This record gives sequence, structure tokens and C-alpha cells, in this order.
Amino acid sequence: MASNLLAGKVGIISGALNEESIAWKVALKCHAEGARFVLTNAPLAMRMGEINKLSEQCNAPIIPADATSMEDLENLFSGAQEQLGGKLDFVLHSIGMSANIRKGKHYGELNYEWYQKTLDVSALSFHKMLAVAEKQDAFNEWGSAVALSYIAAQRAFLDYTDMSQAKAMLESIARSYGQRLGKLKKVRVNTISQSPTKTTAGTGISGFDAFYEYADRLSPLGNAPAEACADYVVSLFSDLTRYVTMQNLMHDGGFSTTGISEEIVELVTGAKS
Ligand code: NAI
Repeated sequence: MASNLLAGKVGIISGALNEESIAWKVALKCHAEGARFVLTNAPLAMRMGEINKLSEQCNAPIIPADATSMEDLENLFSGAQEQLGGKLDFVLHSIGMSANIRKGKHYGELNYEWYQKTLDVSALSFHKMLAVAEKQDAFNEWGSAVALSYIAAQRAFLDYTDMSQAKAMLESIARSYGQRLGKLKKVRVNTISQSPTKTTAGTGISGFDAFYEYADRLSPLGNAPAEACADYVVSLFSDLTRYVTMQNLMHDGGFSTTGISEEIVELVTGAKS
């Protein structure tokens, strides 16, 4: 199925923790489409070692980086350009973490230190990546940066707690930095708002199975799988989407614009129509 859409392109892919990770699927698809790239993740996450398998499969070097550390990010961007032999065409931000979610805190009892950490890891890190790229003049013209978001940025999903604000900030950063990098370097910056997906980050949210089922039954196309999200990312890294920028792009099977569906009516009434 691959058509060499990314032939000659080089970049950085963050966030591949295990085979379920959205970033893992993005890496496999980018490789199949002819791209070369560096893989990165938090040093702690690498201890599990699964990323080595992906690195071999994609012939991609790994540069560990905590996405909240400017020093780590500077090493990542300079190291990636060195290893790939030039400036970058794409960057994937696929990073999210909330200690409040992990510890099962409800929205009324959030720990504010953790809240700030959530914002730093899950949103500011995107700004930091783009700021480092700008300072190092690391992007080629017509490059593309993509981060992954969720509809809790626009609508209340209480179990998503502080990640809702992180995603709202992430989408806002994409707009502001998209304007700046568009002018400076013709680089586009977008977020993809993805359906609930069964990954480590996804299933860590309390009530995830209900989120997942509800979204699946409401969306006319059903939930978008991680592989399809990876295809969408590839299209945004390719030259086919050069003028798409500063957007939050819904990749949700129609969830966000559906009011109600037969499946939900059946669920509520317990009756088959
Ligand atoms: P995942 O758990 O496989 O990926 C999250 C990644 O963030 C992991 O690789 C983790 O090591 C990395 N990370 C955490 N702290 C970090 C740090 N300080 N520095 C560098 N990396 C760090 O889960 P998934 O679902 O693939 O998540 C990827 C992105 O997709 C996240 O932004 C998530 O919020 C987003 N997303 C996920 C959805 C889902 O239902 N799974 C739905 C919509 C968006």
C-alpha cells in the first residue's frame, strides 16, 4: 500500500512506548513511506527497552530526551540533524502524562504540583520542541509538526481531569507557533484530535472503557484506530498537505459533529429499532 509519500524526508518521532502506542504505528508507516527518522522518548520509558525493537525495524537511531528539559531537547534536535545528515522535515509530538489521572484524583481534588507537571509534559513540551527547532533553525522549508490531542480540549469529560486543560493549551500552542513558523520558515503546525484509543496512556484514564464504547457507538464510522491515525499523520508530513496549518483536525469517525445515534438510543431505551 505504501507509495513513497515521504521519500527523502527526515524527522523526529516521540512517544513510542510499546506496540500499542500511536507513535509506534506512525514510525512503522513513516518507514514504509520512505522516511528516515530519530526515535525519542523519556529516559525512564526507555528502560522497558521495547523501543529497541522498533529502532531495529525502522533502522532508526534513538536519542533519549525528557520533553520537559530544554537541555535534553537541544541535544535531541542537534543530535537528530547530525545523525540524519541535515535539517528536519517533520516532528511528531505524541506525549501525554498526568499524575492526577494516574493516582485517580477527581477534578475537585487535583494536586496542583502534578497539575503543573501535566501541563509541562503534555503541552509546554510542544512549545519547547518548536522553540528549540526555531533556535537551531532545524526545519527545512515546508516542514510539518504534528501533536496529538483529544476532544476534551473543547468539551467537558470530567475523568480526563487536568489533561483537558493540557490539550486546550497544546492546540493553542499549535495555532500560535503555526503562525510564527509559517512566516519564518513555511513550516506548518497542526494537532490531530484522535478518537479514544487503547494504549497505555488511554487505558490509564478511569472510565476509559465507557469513553471508548460511547464514542464508538456515537460515531457513524466508529472510533478511528491508531493505524488510521498514523495514516493521517503521514498525510500531514507529506507534500500533499502543504497549506494545512494552525488547525485542530478531528480524526474521530464523526464523533465531534454527531448529536445522537441509533446505537445510543438503543443503549438508553434498551430497545432495538
Ligand atoms: P502512550 O502511553 O503509548 O504514549 C505516551 C508517551 O508519552 C509515552 O511514550 C511516554 O513515555 C511519553 N512521555 C511521557 N512523559 C514524557 C516526558 N517527560 N518526555 C518524553 N516523553 C514522555 O499512549 P498514546 O495513546 O499513544 O499517547 C500518545 C498521544 O496521543 C498523547 O499525547 C495522548 O494524549 C494522545 N491521545 C491519546 C488518545 C488515546 O485514547 N489513547 C486519544 C487522543 C489523543
